[in-house]
Amino acid sequence: MSTVGVILAAGSGSRTGLTIPKQFLKLGGKTVLEHSVQTFHDNKGIDEIVIVTAPEYMEQVKGLVQKNSWSKVTAILTGGKERYESSLAAVGHFSHAPETIMLFHDAARPLVSKRIIDDALKAMESFDAIDVAIPAVDTIVQCDSKGTCMTAIQDRSLLWHMQTPQGFRQKTIAEAYRIALKDARFNTTDDCGTVLRYLPEVKVGIVPGSKENIKLTYADDLSLLKFLLSKRER
Ligand code: C5P
Repeated sequence: MSTVGVILAAGSGSRTGLTIPKQFLKLGGKTVLEHSVQTFHDNKGIDEIVIVTAPEYMEQVKGLVQKNSWSKVTAILTGGKERYESSLAAVGHFSHAPETIMLFHDAARPLVSKRIIDDALKAMESFDAIDVAIPAVDTIVQCDSKGTCMTAIQDRSLLWHMQTPQGFRQKTIAEAYRIALKDARFNTTDDCGTVLRYLPEVKVGIVPGSKENIKLTYADDLSLLKFLLSKRER
């Protein structure tokens, strides 16, 4: 049974306010995407990697694959407008191999570690779906849709921040999306949410993430990432 790292790099990164999508910004001499792919490539537990990107970045990604001699990269796929459409491109690509273990990772989380990938793969021995997450340290409040008033405060001890990778057997994530796409109200920002909602009988395991595994979202996250990277390399 093979293991695949799916690197999701098809977003436009509009929240950074920059013209280049965040996964193509430079961090310590390499793009954010290169850091993410390299950690998966270096991991002995990962057999294969596919990168999902936007059509206009296809050539650039091909160039990065060549430059870094990433022999495990077997495909560069075209993503969609929504993140789940990018995930679906990879799910469809492995439709011939339903037992494949797929770890979906945000290219925009360049400080994913070997430990996290190892633990995610280990957890896939016991679960058909897993998510890397860290416990919430702030109290999290639910507000009305305008963000003017609180509507509820959840018990913090039960709340976690989701990160990536998120892992699934191909057949599990394919089935979750098969059902989801028939639902006219379907909407999601992540793959675990799709499994949780449409395959409630599947247990989604939690794998401890790390504070370093942040997602580059706003332009000033780059300074924090640079600092964390310099600490890591020391
Ligand atoms: O937009 P967001 O911060 O949730 O993106 C998380 C990751 O998913 C990023 O690495 C981004 O490139 C990727 N993504 C994608 N296809 C989209 C939207 C986001 O591959 N349509």
